[in-house]
Amino acid sequence: MNGNQALKLTGIDALAFAGPAGFLDMTDLARARGVDPSKYLNGLGQRRMAIATPCEDTVTMAADAGARALEGFDIDPADIGTLIVGTETGVDHSKPVAVYVHELLGLDQHCRTFETKHACYGAMAGLTASMDWIASGRSRGRKALVIASDIARYGLNTPGEPTQGAGAVAMVVADQPRLLSIDPVRIGDYTRQVMDFWRPLYSKYAFADGHYSIQCYLDALVSARIDAVGERDDVLESLSACLYHVPFVKMAFKAHKRQLEMEFGGELSRDHTESWQLLSQSFERLVAPWLSLNADIGNIYTGSLFLTLIDLLRQSADSLAGREISLFSYGSGCGATYCIGNIVDGADRWRGALDPVAQLDARRRLSIEEYEALLADTELADRLERLEPSSYGLEGGLYYTGTRDHCRQYTRI
Ligand code: CAA
Repeated sequence: MNGNQALKLTGIDALAFAGPAGFLDMTDLARARGVDPSKYLNGLGQRRMAIATPCEDTVTMAADAGARALEGFDIDPADIGTLIVGTETGVDHSKPVAVYVHELLGLDQHCRTFETKHACYGAMAGLTASMDWIASGRSRGRKALVIASDIARYGLNTPGEPTQGAGAVAMVVADQPRLLSIDPVRIGDYTRQVMDFWRPLYSKYAFADGHYSIQCYLDALVSARIDAVGERDDVLESLSACLYHVPFVKMAFKAHKRQLEMEFGGELSRDHTESWQLLSQSFERLVAPWLSLNADIGNIYTGSLFLTLIDLLRQSADSLAGREISLFSYGSGCGATYCIGNIVDGADRWRGALDPVAQLDARRRLSIEEYEALLADTELADRLERLEPSSYGLEGGLYYTGTRDHCRQYTRI
């Protein structure tokens, strides 16, 4: 067996989602903003958006998702030798979210632990670093836990407001993975300094040059794909699904259109009925079926791509066993990776462990007034000494309960 064959069996061994207890209906938001609901529902493709209270933060969501991945897939915390939390929504300029999560999950003291930040790219950076850690032999048979955890906030009455969301996806990266192996050769990267989306140290809210950010995303897709598979024009025909970073569902359509244009050799337009039909059919087959969780949760930044993977596995792990899929991660600023993965035979056995539908069904629909009050409370929450989860209707979980002597407090209630 050569080196590449050995590496081919590295990938995602476990996956789980965790998110806030409340959501906002996009029709309610559109009406409150005096916008035609069809713009949010069809123009952006979003139905609902997860909203975090001040007691639900990057740490609590990451710990919840991490515990679900370990328990749901029967993984002993002692087997985790690397913990990486990818996030744009850190809770401290210095102390990583990951070290809180390390304690909350009871991981081993010899587990290497750190946080990665590159807007929505942090988790993909963590995934590929973990694959390298395993391939180098440094893991000594242990697994890596990579958690994407973020709260997307653009603020009230901004163009980005309907593209907010919150949530965490935890994935265990291992040799002989049970869900998805990732090809270590057909993987390509892209980096370019651009001001398309950023969040200065003094701001809770992201700044975005929205339409430019879409252009930067598409440029990154083209370049990362060429780095992964070259200038080939027949990649899509061998794929059974194309997964993209999903800041809003319609972005996946724009991305898929761009991939098809790379193979088609020209622009696809509604005016050319035949080529537009080709695009619609390809999108419906390779992309649309796995976007329902994103449409109900919104943008979770680093975890968005992996949410589409959860959606695919919970619905089609059986029928797609052994088939190839593409994954594209984009982080503003910007960095991107395009890679090819293979659905592992038997992955459907884990459907119950990774399907978040029961969590989503249990969520509470927030009124616009509640949502706006939550955003206002969040602005003050880092400095408050005492926060009461029950005042937000929360119980039965781990919550941020205030900052005492400049130290964040986490409590199970
Ligand atoms: N019915 C149906 N569709 C409608 C409509 C109506 N009544 N009114 C408008 N639309 C359509 C528009 O035609 C448009 O569709 P197309 O893009 O297919 O043309 C769509 O709804 C959106 O309309 P606008 O472009 O006019 O919307 P906007 O200017 O208000 O803002 C946005 C859209 C730029 C995405 C904004 O929400 C934003 O800035 N979001 C944050 C930035 C972002 O998500 N960028 C994505 C790439 S960067 C990235 O991926 C990293 C990340 O996670 C942030």
